[in-house]
Amino acid sequence: MDLTGRKIVLGVTGGIAAYKSAELVSRLRHLGAEVHVIMTRNATEFVSPLTFQTLSANQVVTDTFQAPEYWNVEHVALARLAEVFVIAPATANILAKMAAGIADDMLSTTVLATKAPVLAAPAMNTGMWTAEATRANVKTLRERGVLFIGPDSGMLACGDEGAGRMSEPEAIAEEICRILNRAADMAGLRVLVTAGATRERLDPVRFITNDSSGKMGFALAEAARDRGAEVTVVCGSVSVPVPEGVRTVRIESAQDLYDAMIREAPEQDVIIQAAAVCDYRVEKQSATKIKKAEGQPLTLTLTENPDVAMAVGRNRKKGQTLVGFAAETDHVQKNAVSKLKKKNLDMIVANDVTAPGAGFNVDTNIATLITKEGSEALPLQTKRQLADVILDRILALRT
Ligand code: CTP
Repeated sequence: MDLTGRKIVLGVTGGIAAYKSAELVSRLRHLGAEVHVIMTRNATEFVSPLTFQTLSANQVVTDTFQAPEYWNVEHVALARLAEVFVIAPATANILAKMAAGIADDMLSTTVLATKAPVLAAPAMNTGMWTAEATRANVKTLRERGVLFIGPDSGMLACGDEGAGRMSEPEAIAEEICRILNRAADMAGLRVLVTAGATRERLDPVRFITNDSSGKMGFALAEAARDRGAEVTVVCGSVSVPVPEGVRTVRIESAQDLYDAMIREAPEQDVIIQAAAVCDYRVEKQSATKIKKAEGQPLTLTLTENPDVAMAVGRNRKKGQTLVGFAAETDHVQKNAVSKLKKKNLDMIVANDVTAPGAGFNVDTNIATLITKEGSEALPLQTKRQLADVILDRILALRT
């Protein structure tokens, strides 16, 4: 674990676990990090700012005697400086403020402004943690990409037993390392992602397609880009903007995708096929607009498209990692395992597209990652978070 020169902002809120954050600061400093602490007014009742100032060797920001105008300057500076923003302990109050976007003190103001990944280590009474309001706030924050560690279960300061203890400083420090070290762990890798839906034309003005938005594929491309990979996106029809900083190859039909992949695939180290490919196209595309045959049914004859993933799997190069998706509505596991084998993939990301919060056109997903070794069911999370987990597992497969 090495954090030399990494910039961490630590928000400390008012809970008995605040004393454990002093140990966290000392661990982070030992690993070489630059730590800036912001304390809420209540936090200063539990631990003195001088403790954090001494351990961090930096001025501690508190609200005591500081006017809101002062926040406006300082919060931007710290929000920008942070490579990761940690809140430990995170009380039910700060989680509620973050979920609602309330900015009424230095910490809530700064965390609202930051673009850095945010990691919260909740600590509170079990009743507060399990309260419906807190559950809803945590869900909202997770969906926006806030990361959580803990809380652990055990005997709480109030004498209750249950979930609510802040995770140990050692575990929080490890999680911080994991978040920061992701930043370059795909450097030198060429990653190709297919995204969006294919369109199969009937005539110059009509086509057959599906609901794919491109969100999952783009989340993967952005995550791989942020982790240092050289990324190509082969992109069909999408409803969101193409990510910046990646090479883009536009395609329309499944046949276009096939042609692009035959050309592009051999050069890649990792290929993730998140595109929703139409399995069929019309046998005879009309060069002119199909006219309404009044009173008569219209029959379209469909012919099968090439299976792109199967072709890529058949021609796989040594050292390549191939990942596919399986959008299912039933028998998810069984169908996905059969696709893994048939398409010669290393991993398949299976999801039940009928589950709320999963599948097409939403920002979240619920997936099961299946490899030859077994399967791992993942909780509901943002597509970006899922993308990072998929990339973590791909890197593990490659070691
Ligand atoms: N795929 C592909 N070419 C096709 C169909 C699918 O490359 N003609 C890829 C998708 O990009 C995805 C995986 O294969 O990575 C599984 O896609 P899916 O639509 O779930 O499976 P199909 O093989 O089409 O099977 P079915 O439609 O019967 O479920």
